[in-house]
Amino acid sequence: MTATASAPAVRHFLRFDDFTREEVEHVLSRAAVIKDRFKRYQCYQPLVDRTLAMVFEKASTRTRVSFEAGMYQLGGSVIHLTTGDSQLGRSEPIEDTARVISRMVDIVMIRTFGQEKIVRFAAHSRVPVINGLTNEFHPCQVLADILTFVEHRGPIAGRTVAWIGDANNMAYTWLQAARLLGFRVNVSTPPGYALQPELAPAGDHFRTFTSPAEAACGADLVTTDVWASMGFEAENQARRSAFAGWQVNAELMRQARPDALFMHCLPAHRGEEVAAEVLDGPQSVAWDEAENRLHAQKALLEFLLLGRNVK
Ligand code: CP
Ligand code: NVA
Repeated sequence: MTATASAPAVRHFLRFDDFTREEVEHVLSRAAVIKDRFKRYQCYQPLVDRTLAMVFEKASTRTRVSFEAGMYQLGGSVIHLTTGDSQLGRSEPIEDTARVISRMVDIVMIRTFGQEKIVRFAAHSRVPVINGLTNEFHPCQVLADILTFVEHRGPIAGRTVAWIGDANNMAYTWLQAARLLGFRVNVSTPPGYALQPELAPAGDHFRTFTSPAEAACGADLVTTDVWASMGFEAENQARRSAFAGWQVNAELMRQARPDALFMHCLPAHRGEEVAAEVLDGPQSVAWDEAENRLHAQKALLEFLLLGRNVK
């Protein structure tokens, strides 16, 4: 080591594959420990005096509540900003916002539109930045979803996930997770709504299917999401017609393995992308997924702020 050795680079979680497989496995195993302690009312507050700033440029229920509750439970505190109540809404550059916020807090979570915006923020941040959803990716949700799968069915490596519906932020993040963790995704999207190759580089980790039934065939997990994501509301009407054959209902679930799970990141529209019989049925683990946002993100905050120096 030289006297001029530079400080280690700040780690961010902007995409699922910003972490190695081993790091994801570490975070998942810590999530299980932190969850177990929480369920037993054991106080675990390693983040006393640490502050999380959350920046929301889109609406949220789960992401806000899970990060805010999680940070307080770990002993830290939280600042909540939106576009409307900050200078972001009055065109302060994202780079300047990053420089300022990251001198005052220890970690930042951002929910915004284009991924490039969060990348620019991170490039000018002194502290770790977490992607709380962009148009392209939703890594915190897939972290919680994999924790949920593992709890119910064991390791996800070698399994098959069926993605039915829109080629959106959740779909692209599932593909990153599949490549990293060694499982496969069968993707079925309607004509005109296919995966964008630049967000889904080809590989053995996914296959595309014209028919949703073929994509679901033999799957260990069937998952879907809204037909029009936040920011795409103007396309609601057109998408309702285009996606009509891509509803996850009991008939589609019968194509999957008999013990297949159903997941949805929520919020859901019963009668559109998912039938009530599935979302509210015995194969659905949607409520576990939502709860696991809390536990997975507490482990993520712990990892980004403390590394592996934890007990
Ligand atoms: N799944 C999810 O991110 O939910 P919110 O939009 O409510 O945060
Ligand atoms: N794909 C959805 C996920 C919401 C949590 C959206 O971006 O609106």
